[in-house]
Parts: sequence; structure tokens; C-alpha cells
Amino acid sequence: MSSLPRHPQADAARRKVGLTKLQEMRALGEPIVMVTAYDHPSAKIAEAAGVDVVLVGDSAANNVLGYADTVPITVDELLMLTAAVRRGLSTPMLVGDLPFGSYEASDAQAIATAHRFVKEAGCDVVKLEGGGASADRARAIVRAGVPVMGHVGLTPQTATALGGYRAQGRTAERAKQVLDDALALQDAGCFALVFEAIPAGVTDLLMARMEIPVIGIGAGPATDGQVLVLHDLLGIHPEFKPKFAARFANVHGEMLRGIGAYAEAVRTRAFPGPEHTYGIAPEEIRRLEEQINTTFTTR
Ligand code: KIV
Repeated sequence: MSSLPRHPQADAARRKVGLTKLQEMRALGEPIVMVTAYDHPSAKIAEAAGVDVVLVGDSAANNVLGYADTVPITVDELLMLTAAVRRGLSTPMLVGDLPFGSYEASDAQAIATAHRFVKEAGCDVVKLEGGGASADRARAIVRAGVPVMGHVGLTPQTATALGGYRAQGRTAERAKQVLDDALALQDAGCFALVFEAIPAGVTDLLMARMEIPVIGIGAGPATDGQVLVLHDLLGIHPEFKPKFAARFANVHGEMLRGIGAYAEAVRTRAFPGPEHTYGIAPEEIRRLEEQINTTFTTR
């Protein structure tokens, strides 16, 4: 792929998306568009489509590496995917996702991991999950010079402790806990937050307390922007359909059709055709035949 056609919305005076741009969008009420990407071609397509923020989520674990959930993915695995995405992006903000076990133990561990995402994968910012001790880690990373996006509500890295992959904040007490986590991360200096899987009515109340951009996934329409996992929105895993994941394409169907058509063309010898085949001058073929004949008759 050399140069992709740009989506019309991508052409409107695009400049590198940074923290200030997100704050401006929030102030102007312009929805922020965030999507995940895990490889170079997807990054180039996200860029061409004009998205504002690209997250190389730890959801790469289950979407492209075949793990059952996000817990096993390692820093090294994510760094390799993130660096590939970096090479495909220039305008959108690139968010690196700190995987489970790479930041919780201490401020020093959190800073060291965040620095690796910036230095080795070229991330603009990093994201971590949860309130509580995570807010302390976020504060340490921000102080060490790396902007941090927080993530509250359903936090997949600790889903077991939350009772599984289910909406959070569905009682007043649990919703207050989500608010406390969000406020702790905001106070810690996070420049933005992700709200995942919380009732829209709770989001409405929480948004009144937020001073930084909030990007929602399954958190209703009141947030400053929306994020979806690329494979969910493109319909790449048709068997997986969480409530909040609207499908905007059927890439699984199209891939199945394309690979099936290729297999059929090979089996019927319709492929490769003359247009896929290299030519050689008849004179060269004649000389080759002579050389082969000489070789075999002199043996
Ligand atoms: O890893 C991920 O894809 C995420 C999004 C759901 C925000 O954290």
C-alpha cells in the first residue's frame, strides 16, 4: 500500500493531535474519535480515515495473539505491535497500553515501563487501568514526563476481581466507586480517561465532575468521545459481539469470500493468469533449451 485515499473528514486541516487539541475538542463539544490498531496497515487506514487517537490496546492479546483475555500479553509483545503502528501514523495521538503486571508493583516499575513505550515504540502517551494504587502510579508516570490516560469502570485486566466482564457502577455504591477512581486519576494528573461499560445515567452524573476529556466505550453518549476495538467495529470476529460494540463493516465475511475465491481459483487453475506471470523472450527460452540439452547429452 503506497498512499491511501484520505477520508474527506481527514482532510480538514489536520495537525498532530496532542493534549491541547483534545482539550480544545472537549471545550468545543467536538466528539473525539479513538480506535484500537495493532499493526501497520491498520494504523495507515486509521490515519487515512481521520481518527484522532489510536490505542494499541492490550486487547491485542485476544484480538490478534489468540490469548483468552488481556492478562497474559507481555510488554515486549505490545512494544513490537506498538512500534509497527507508530510507523503507520503521523497525525493521530498514539496511546501505548501498559499491560497487566507492568506497572502495579511500584512507581519505579511504572515509570520504567512507561519510558519503554515512549523510547522503544514512539508512544505519545500511555494508558493504565484502575483507580486506587493505579492513581499513584499515574501520578509518578506524569511526574516522570509521560502523559497518562486513565481507564475506569470495567477494567479488563482485573475483570475477575470485578465479577467478570460485565457493566460496572450499577448500584449507587459501585457507581460512587467509579467516580472516586475517576477523580483520583484526574487529580493524579491524567490528561484523559476511558470510561468502560458503565450505565449512561451514571456517566451523565460523572461527566459533571470531569475536567479532562473522557472517551467512552459502552458508557453512553455523554462522554467527550468514543473508542471501539477495531476488530469489533469491523466485524472481524463475528462470534464476539459485546453489547457496546456496534459493527460498521463485515470484514470477516469479505476475508472469507476473498480467501475462498483464491482457493477456488487455484484449484480450478484459473489463477495465476497471464497477467500474473513473468515473461521471457522466446530467444532466451531457445538458448536455455540448448544449454539443458547439452548438459544432459554430455553426461
Ligand atoms: O485494550 C483496549 O482495547 C482498551 C479499550 C477497550 C479502551 O483498553
